[in-house]
Amino acid sequence: MKIKACLFDLDGVVVDTARYHYIAWKRIADQLGFYFSELDNEKLKGVSRMESLDILLRVGKKEVDIKTREELAILKNSYYLSFIQSMTPGEILPGVIEFLDELRNNGILIGLGSASKNSLLILDKLNIREKFDVVIDGNKVSNAKPDPEVFLNGAAELGVSPSDCLVFEDAQAGIDAARNGGMHCIGIGNPEYLKNADFVIPGFLKMDLDQIKSWYS
Ligand code: G6P
Ligand code: MG
Repeated sequence: MKIKACLFDLDGVVVDTARYHYIAWKRIADQLGFYFSELDNEKLKGVSRMESLDILLRVGKKEVDIKTREELAILKNSYYLSFIQSMTPGEILPGVIEFLDELRNNGILIGLGSASKNSLLILDKLNIREKFDVVIDGNKVSNAKPDPEVFLNGAAELGVSPSDCLVFEDAQAGIDAARNGGMHCIGIGNPEYLKNADFVIPGFLKMDLDQIKSWYS
């Protein structure tokens, strides 16, 4: 396989936003009168905002009407936005910048494929928007991961066939999305929890392109 493009998930791959999502969702759970644990929060990784809310409500055994559901999603996002306002480039996960620069220097195209509707804001806070040739975020897709839409759109905008794309993902739904799109995929995190990736790495520290090319040769 010749890697022509790399597609990156945002949350948990480029930056660790999971704790901000968690604190925001926990505040909603507190207001609704139930406990939302960090373990429960794992179920929200890679999942869209509305689906996350549905999971949260199931955990709390709460049923709400459509209007309240919309209001809760807006409220959660307002909490989340207040946390990410103060985000800085120092929060970019170790080795990410170096890896992105190495890809660019080797002529490999770079895309972002994230469910988050806040992707552009976060890329700007981290000052790395220009490192991506294309950004497909939650505003541009109608089908959430594990549907491959977000990655297939990225590949199409880059003009690269899915089989020449390598996806980096920290969530099972994202790995499944890459697979469903016929792409190669490297998981970021713990191999015990991430299934069906070609390889699973802890992060980009000490990772370089030669290493990855050797895995796929
Ligand atoms: C990513 C995160 C999820 C989050 C989703 C939507 O996939 O992993 O935890 O729910 O984005 O994020 P948003 O910023 O649009 O609420
Ligand atoms: Mg993620």
